[in-house]
Amino acid sequence: MKKHVSLFFLFIFLFCQNIVSVSASKPDSAFLFSYSTLKNDGRNGLHFAWSIDQTNWHSIGSEYRFLFSDYGRWGTEKRLVTPFLFLDNKQIWHCLWSLNEKDGTFAHSSSADLIYWLPQTYPNVIKGNNCLQPEVFFDKKSGLYTITWISNQHKDTLVYATTTRDFKEYSATIPGNRSIRLNKRQNVTISGNTQTGTVHKVSWNVINNLIKTWQLSDYNNNLSNENFKDDSSRFAALKPVQVTINANVNQRKKISDMLIGVFFEDINYAADGGLYAELVQNRDFEYSLSDKSGWDKSWTSTKAWSISGPGATLTIDTVSPIHPNNRHYATLHVSQPGTALTNEGFNGIAITKGEKYNFSVFVRKPDNKTGNITIRLMGKNGETCGEARIKATAGKWQKVKAVIIANKTSTDASLSIVPETTGTVLLDMISLFPQKTFKGRSNGLRTDLAEAIAGLHPRFVRFPGGCVAHGDGIGNIYRWKNTIGPLEARKPQRNLWNYHQSAGLGYFEYLQFCEDIGAKPVPVIAAGVPCQNSSCGGAGQQGGIRMCEMDAYIQDILDLIEYCNGDVKSVWGKKRAEAGHPAPFNLEYIGIGNEDLINDIFEERFTKIYNAVKEKHPEITIIGTVGPASEGTDYVEGWKIADKLHIPIVDEHYYQNPGWFINNQYYYDKYDRSKSKVYLGEYASRGNTLYNALSEAIYLTALERNADVVTMASYAPLLAKEGFTQWNPDLIYFNNNEVKPTVNYYIQQLFGQNSGNSYISSTVQLSDEREMVSKRMGTSIVHDSKTNDYIVKLVNMLPVEADVQVNLSGMGNFNLAATQIVLTGKPGDKKSLPVTNNITVSENFTSHLPAYSFTLIRIKSGNIR
Ligand code: AHR
Repeated sequence: MKKHVSLFFLFIFLFCQNIVSVSASKPDSAFLFSYSTLKNDGRNGLHFAWSIDQTNWHSIGSEYRFLFSDYGRWGTEKRLVTPFLFLDNKQIWHCLWSLNEKDGTFAHSSSADLIYWLPQTYPNVIKGNNCLQPEVFFDKKSGLYTITWISNQHKDTLVYATTTRDFKEYSATIPGNRSIRLNKRQNVTISGNTQTGTVHKVSWNVINNLIKTWQLSDYNNNLSNENFKDDSSRFAALKPVQVTINANVNQRKKISDMLIGVFFEDINYAADGGLYAELVQNRDFEYSLSDKSGWDKSWTSTKAWSISGPGATLTIDTVSPIHPNNRHYATLHVSQPGTALTNEGFNGIAITKGEKYNFSVFVRKPDNKTGNITIRLMGKNGETCGEARIKATAGKWQKVKAVIIANKTSTDASLSIVPETTGTVLLDMISLFPQKTFKGRSNGLRTDLAEAIAGLHPRFVRFPGGCVAHGDGIGNIYRWKNTIGPLEARKPQRNLWNYHQSAGLGYFEYLQFCEDIGAKPVPVIAAGVPCQNSSCGGAGQQGGIRMCEMDAYIQDILDLIEYCNGDVKSVWGKKRAEAGHPAPFNLEYIGIGNEDLINDIFEERFTKIYNAVKEKHPEITIIGTVGPASEGTDYVEGWKIADKLHIPIVDEHYYQNPGWFINNQYYYDKYDRSKSKVYLGEYASRGNTLYNALSEAIYLTALERNADVVTMASYAPLLAKEGFTQWNPDLIYFNNNEVKPTVNYYIQQLFGQNSGNSYISSTVQLSDEREMVSKRMGTSIVHDSKTNDYIVKLVNMLPVEADVQVNLSGMGNFNLAATQIVLTGKPGDKKSLPVTNNITVSENFTSHLPAYSFTLIRIKSGNIR
């Protein structure tokens, strides 16, 4: 019903707009001007303006972008400069543009209607020079398009050309002279500003459709910007609302029991310095300037380390390391006892009085003298908070361990290594773990954070991302084999969120964690391509692993499946057993790709991986990817591949405003049930207020209604360390000793702990039937066959209270114990907490919903069927 009301209003809106923009005496044709501006350094995309007389020009939306350059990194790249629009003899539009002043690359995309644009390509046509003002013409006779451009990176300004039949394969570049240039770009004045671009005569319908597209987008943007700050005026005269829900207990559909899961990515210090319980930062001396692209000069092998003591020196060496994957180690020269090598931890080390801490280090004495070393936990004022002693014996690298008991609680302790004798000592993999890790695992996880995640009752854990999965450039793709085995042999790497990834929390720890919290693992593997916003490799765009290397890459993926599920006698199953887990981890899902650029490069590699995994492991459910947004080229092209290959599940992502979630509750109701299922792998409403969380709750009621097609969902990102965040908002914030769940967390938790496996359909009637009111009321009733409980979820995003009559007739007369949990507060609150009460309900009961609230009623239906 709500859907029809909203469509009706949309129609009226567009109809009215149409009357304004298309009068009865509409022209047959008009002139279309295509251009880009230099605003935002040329990153605002392709614009259009129209004119009847080529004198008075009207822009179609101010700075509205019909095409957006997707080349390279966010922030500095993605420029669309000097676009050139061209209509070919098959009535297909081509747009060519320049990307920047340095790369020998232009961009191309094509479109049948100027609205939907096909995947972009970035042919690298001239090495060592740039590619400016590209233009194109078509020669009917030869069937060739000739592209010319200007290169001026050296002293001269030269013209070059290449030809193509299909904008995929290009001939070798040749120099040309100025006469081959069309010079078709012209200047027009729009709202007093001179712009440069191309002019085409087109039928009025073309322009009218562009105007409608912009108006629809504008309309949707307004809906998405709906915000609680306007609620007092929007709902000025609104009275408390009466709601009647009539459930049809016999009309139910099976829904996924995997709906709520978590997305774990090492972003915001989620792993090192976060969930991974290691307390020593840069324990392996492998931090490097390149982790942060050289801009942080302190980010080197000695980051987080300092030395004190007269005449002491610390050098970093690489000769004869413990393992080639871990090349750097510390060489400490001690000329007087008292020298200390100190680690500051991740912004301090949190210790608790009476707790035990496991210390370990690889040590070597090149001077062949045996000596003792004191290991000391130091308080902020230099006081000793606990210590232990180890012996460094002469000879090869040796792993030495000790246990320190803290005699004080501190949030900002440090760890000092204090040799008791003079001489030289080599040190590496200096490590300190609390003994109380989650479930007492060695090399384990921080208990409080792990418990917070477990508290969500997630049915699955996605890992290792997100963008970390596909990396910044091919060399940065997450390779699972680098993250297993002895810690000193793992291969750390640059984390694309601008820090260092030790790989201490690797695949084994991940799989163990899943098992420990009863969640299914959902590893996501790069589809042979890195992040589409990569800054390195592939001329600033993603490129892909060379096809001749793809077989080896695919073998790695098959090996991962064997590592998870293989027999202990298999090569990789044996490695799992050696790590302490002979039983399989029961992998059922694998994700291939993460919001990639869906183009030929992607499709070729994805298809190869997909077919290989499907053939060797038909028992594994493969999850594909359909780009980073709920619409657009990657979404459309990704779905085309999903349809073609019959991919079981695809991964959708979107980060939107609360208004988007409120106004798109019916997004999945229209999905074709016979196609791929959906894993909503990343979503969030861009804020941590109660209003944000309630908009996510409304959307989750819609996901439950659609959980026959949306089988899995995970809010993203999960974790964020205060002061070390690259992405906001997140679900759980933390520092070294506190965990701070957000309001959004409690919503996820209430849905995670109260999911069901069948959805009970119901009709919902409001005393005020206006759409603006009804869309602020979310309801869902599910049944959990394991407990035989019925769960009613009610979201009231209105600024007034609501009384809800819940009619469960058909369940039989009963007087049943129920648990009611209410989360409410002011819409801007960030600290609202759920409050639980025991209540009794009958077949027909009333629930009172406070303004801006989420109410959950779990009815223990006992023997009622
Ligand atoms: O969740 C943060 C990032 O958002 C993920 O790494 C990426 O997949 C998405 O763009």
